Parts: sequence; C-alpha cells; structure tokens
Amino acid sequence: MKANSAKANAGAAVLDAERPATTETLLVGLDLGTNMSCLMSAPRGSDEKPVRELIPTVVGYAKEDVLNGILPCEAKVLFGRLAQKHRQNLNLVRPLQGGVIAHPEAARQFATHLRDTLQADGREVRAVIGTPACSDLAARDSARNAFRGMVAKVIFVPEPFLAVIGYRDDARISDANYHDPVLNSLCIDIGAGSTDVCLVQGHYPTVDDQLSVPFAGDAVDQIILDRILAEYPESGLTVSRIREIKERHSWVLAEDGATPAVATVMVGGKSRKIDVTAQVGAGCDALLQKVFEMARDLISRAEPETVSELLQNVIVTGGGSLTKGFGVALQAKLLEEGFENPRVQVLGDNYKDFVALGALKIARRARENQWQTLLG
Ligand SMILES: Nc1ncnc2c1ncn2[C@@H]1O[C@H](COP(=O)(O)OP(=O)(O)OP(=O)(O)O)[C@@H](O)[C@H]1O
Ligand SMILES: [Mg+2]
Repeated sequence: MKANSAKANAGAAVLDAERPATTETLLVGLDLGTNMSCLMSAPRGSDEKPVRELIPTVVGYAKEDVLNGILPCEAKVLFGRLAQKHRQNLNLVRPLQGGVIAHPEAARQFATHLRDTLQADGREVRAVIGTPACSDLAARDSARNAFRGMVAKVIFVPEPFLAVIGYRDDARISDANYHDPVLNSLCIDIGAGSTDVCLVQGHYPTVDDQLSVPFAGDAVDQIILDRILAEYPESGLTVSRIREIKERHSWVLAEDGATPAVATVMVGGKSRKIDVTAQVGAGCDALLQKVFEMARDLISRAEPETVSELLQNVIVTGGGSLTKGFGVALQAKLLEEGFENPRVQVLGDNYKDFVALGALKIARRARENQWQTLLG
C-alpha cells in the first residue's frame, strides 16, 4: 500500500491530544449527510457533554400559491423537520446528492440554519466536517463556500475515518486485549447518497485506503421502485413512500425471516395491497453485493500481515447498515470468499452519532495550524 506521507503526517498530528484552554470558541463536529445531518458541539477547552442535534438535510421553499397563516411566521424557507412537516406547501430541495453538495444555494441556506441551531452567541465557531471518502477538491471547495461566513475555521476529514474515531473506546486504548479500531479496521459507511469504505490503520487514510461509490440507500430505493413499476406501471408509488417501506422491511437473509412488505398501489384506478417483499429484497441484495465487492477490494490492498487483525474489526455503519441481516450476510460472504474468521460489527441505531462525535474529538485535539481559516 502506498503511503501519502504529507497526508499521513497531517492525520497523525490531528490525533495528537492538545487541549487549548478557552471557552470563547465553540467546537463543532458535523456529519453533513445527504439524508440527515448530525451536529455535536461543545465549548473549546471544556470536557462537558456535547450538545447533539439531528437535522434532516432538506430545504423547503414556500410555493407561490401558499395561503397566509399556513406556514410558521409566513416563512419563505423552512429547514429539516419543519420543512418535512409542511412538504405539501413547499418545494423541497435536498442540497446534497451522492454525499456531495449538488445545490450550492440550498446548501448555503442549510449551513445558515445549522449555524443558527448552534446558538453560538457571538463565539467563534470552528467545525470539523465529514466528507465522503475520496471526495475531490471541487467537493471540498463547495463545502467551504457553503460554510464561508458561518464558520471561522474548518478541517475536512473522511466520514468513515471519523466514524471509527467516534466509535473508538478511548478509555480502553491502553488495554492490550482491546482491538483498537483506529489501529486496524475496515469501516463501511452506507449512507443515502454514497457508500464509503475505508482502511483505518493508525494513520490518516490516504487515497489508496478509501473507496466511495454513489450507490447507497437512494439507489436501493430506485431499484425497488423500478421493479415495482415494471409490474405495476400505474401504481402511483413515489420514491419517498418506497423509502418508508424499505426502512421498515429491508432484509438480505431469507432464512433470517423477512417481514412481509406490503404496499398500497393503484391498479386500474382502484387501491390494492401488493406484496413487495421480493422487490425490497432485490434492492437490498444489490447493496450487499456492492458493499462486499468494495470490502474485498480494500482488504486486498492491506499489508498481508495486517489482514487477520483487520478482519476482526469490520465495522458497518450508516443507515443502510440497519438493513435486517446485513452484518451476518456480509460476514458470511467474506467467509465464503475465503477470508479467515471475519467479524463484522454493525454500529446500530445510533450510528448517526459516530461521525459527528469523531469530528468533535478531532476538533478538540486539533492544533492551531491544522485549522483552515474560511475568509468571509
Ligand atoms: N432500517 C433501514 N434499512 C435500510 N435502510 C435504511 C434503514 N434506515 C435508514 N435507511 C437508509 O439509510 C440511508 C440514510 O443513511 P445515513 O443517515 O447514513 O445517510 P447520510 O449520512 O444522510 O448520507 P450520506 O452519508 O450518503 O451523505 C437512507 O437511504 C435510508 O433510507
Ligand atoms: Mg453519512
């Protein structure tokens, strides 16, 4: 595996503990997700429990014909849950696609909303922001532009790496029996817009340590929808309805018992309930196969002597990891492929906290020269 020494050094330095002593600055860890964003904030130099906010990454613009008294405070723009609540009277825009900013203006407005949520009260705000693995300069530039004027200083770090830093049990670092995921793990983050896989081996991941594909939950929704539409072209199902069905009934292992997925569709103008378990399974299987191929590819890039330890720490996170049976199925596929004794861990329902918490940990430890200033 090639080492990108400049990046590796920068990353190792980010991990060095150094605690500044001022509460004039508010530190923020931000998981800017395609579907959902998570903020963790705490004053610089304090050990206090971070304040956590979970905000759907969506901006809603009031429709022209909306009547007075319908939207709160006659707002022209709403964000997050409020935007979702008033969706019939708004044009909803998701600022990110495939994990990166696709609508710069909406992204900037969303960043303003995040900043307002922080209640920074005049304090300087510094943010460590997660980026998809392998995100290019253009993607980071768009993120910088979105946050210019909202945040004084930033550091961008790949999301799967942040997830591992967030997941690490810092109290057990000196425990010889602890398989420290920061020293050796494979982290797989299955989001809405992208699936990111990252080798984490004690240093900041290089380009060669990461893979990202724009195939994740949104793509699964599309596969399910296409399959249903092929059979019921006039069903009137929307992708957001499909997402709801998938989140309730996603599955990948038949013997693990899929819960039957039933959708109400229109057939010949009449409403009818149909079983869409197979279509949901097909979408989830496609995701499993993609994740397996990405994991296999990255494991093959690791130094051979690190692989057996690495296989003990295959970590799956992101909303897609909640697919029923996913961890067991991935482990079985790795075993079938010939990898020795793999152990796949799924982070579970509170997966959303790990990237933001990892980002906040890095913000707390960053040295002054690691922050990039965002000129207003
Ligand atoms: N129980 C579930 N089964 C399958 N998929 C699920 C489940 N719950 C959530 N998801 C899917 O997970 C995705 C959202 O995951 P996550 O919150 O990690 O995304 P994100 O961080 O916003 O996106 P990205 O990292 O791609 O920018 C959505 O596609 C959602 O439908
Ligand atoms: Mg994500």
